[in-house]
Amino acid sequence: MQAISRRLGHQSLKPAASLSSFKSIYPLSDHHYGADHQRHASSLAAKGVGHLIRKGTGGRSSVSGIVATVFGATGFLGRYVVQQLAKMGSQVLVPFRGSEDSHRHLKLMGDLGQIVPMKYNPRDENSIKAVMAKANVVINLIGRDHETRNYSFEELNHGMTEQLAMISKEHGGIMRFIQVSCLGASASSPSRMLRAKAAGEEAVLREMPEKRGILEMSFGCKPYGGSTLQKQIFIMHLSILAIPLEWSILLLLLVERFCYLDPTKATVMKPAVMIGTEDRILNRWAHFAKKYSFLPLIGDGSTKIQPVYVVDVAAAIIAALKDDGSSMGKVYELGGPEIFTVQELADLMHDVIREWPRYVKVPFPIAKALATPRAVLINKVPFPLPTPNIFNLDEINALTIDSVVSENALTFNDLGIVPHKLKGYPIEFLISYRKGGPQFGSTISERVSPDSFP
Ligand SMILES: NC(=O)c1ccc[n+]([C@@H]2O[C@H](COP(=O)([O-])OP(=O)(O)OC[C@H]3O[C@@H](n4cnc5c(N)ncnc54)[C@H](OP(=O)(O)O)[C@@H]3O)[C@@H](O)[C@H]2O)c1
Repeated sequence: MQAISRRLGHQSLKPAASLSSFKSIYPLSDHHYGADHQRHASSLAAKGVGHLIRKGTGGRSSVSGIVATVFGATGFLGRYVVQQLAKMGSQVLVPFRGSEDSHRHLKLMGDLGQIVPMKYNPRDENSIKAVMAKANVVINLIGRDHETRNYSFEELNHGMTEQLAMISKEHGGIMRFIQVSCLGASASSPSRMLRAKAAGEEAVLREMPEKRGILEMSFGCKPYGGSTLQKQIFIMHLSILAIPLEWSILLLLLVERFCYLDPTKATVMKPAVMIGTEDRILNRWAHFAKKYSFLPLIGDGSTKIQPVYVVDVAAAIIAALKDDGSSMGKVYELGGPEIFTVQELADLMHDVIREWPRYVKVPFPIAKALATPRAVLINKVPFPLPTPNIFNLDEINALTIDSVVSENALTFNDLGIVPHKLKGYPIEFLISYRKGGPQFGSTISERVSPDSFP
């Protein structure tokens, strides 16, 4: 697989002899491919989703026209985004920095040659350019809920996002940029990660603002990437000026092709805490509750959250890519259909794993005191510290305020998606934590008391 991915990565960057005149503005270092000389990637990235040839019925073996570089594809949300992209016949470039195993599960999601892992170094601009060279869509899922010795919240969530946005803009062929941030990200958040995420969002929207074309400004409609209705209004405007229909259509096509000089547009998705088989909230809780027979609840468990099924978030990203351009330049807040308090969500988890809930409520000051040493020492000791589990200082800070979708925000509804309720299939994975085996008990009254087992 290593050999294949290297070969694919290498080939996709090698300009064909006939295209040598289109040498890229991006000289690529072969640092990651074992060669010393500089090489050039073709900048002939296909010109956008709407301009590519679509073939087939829309299934895995068709051609959707999307060639997407998905940064952070190796993570939790990444696998669902790659799966949904591949399912509609898109080619997915998977930049990875870790071992060759980190992307193995993704290869199976697409037809042969559709999922292309490419080794990259997030601190090397040329290597980022290399993994974007052939794409027409960039999706940024990079993020981490804790700091490491190597990456601060700011560098990861702000610096790296800004860099990706700048490179995408410079690329010229990236038609859509989807930035995944977090619900609650704001400059005034008590959490450093959420503040950095907010700065990242701002950078993306600043680099790729919702610029209006000349015609949009003059006629109040948006020919490029606009809806069919907007195009009809555009033609109507021209017919008022007594321009024949054929000429109007021709003009529209020319405008679409040439006049919109800065077509890259960003969409920001702000999911709430995500739930799914590999999630980092219910799995952590279930694991802790099973191991220690109790669960610490930060604060008094009354903070409101609006957890969302991870598959719905991936579907929202795909819906934004497939729309007529109406999601460009917009920010969506993606919360599930129900608001829970932290304790209610923990109760739901206990119901599914059939354990009696036993909570130890940890007031915020004590929780912070327990979590502070790691946060303070992270860069002061010469060895890595354990990854924070329940007591993550930044998460504790974030939990001091409610995190729900705001009243006037654009949501799933605006993308034509009805999010799933958590109870049922989305949390069924928790049955593997049942003491009596996954099939144990069929009703909540059959929950197992920890005392009933020696
Ligand atoms: N999980 C949630 O509940 C939740 C809720 C709201 C928003 N979000 C946001 O949604 C996005 C995806 O979340 P997720 O749960 O899928 O995250 P995840 O499972 O932690 O995956 C994060 C991805 O980012 C990559 N990454 C982390 N640090 C990196 C670094 N220094 N350089 C390059 N890549 C790096 C990881 O690559 P490696 O595999 O190489 O480490 C991984 O592919 C993130 O932006 C997150 O902040 C998540």
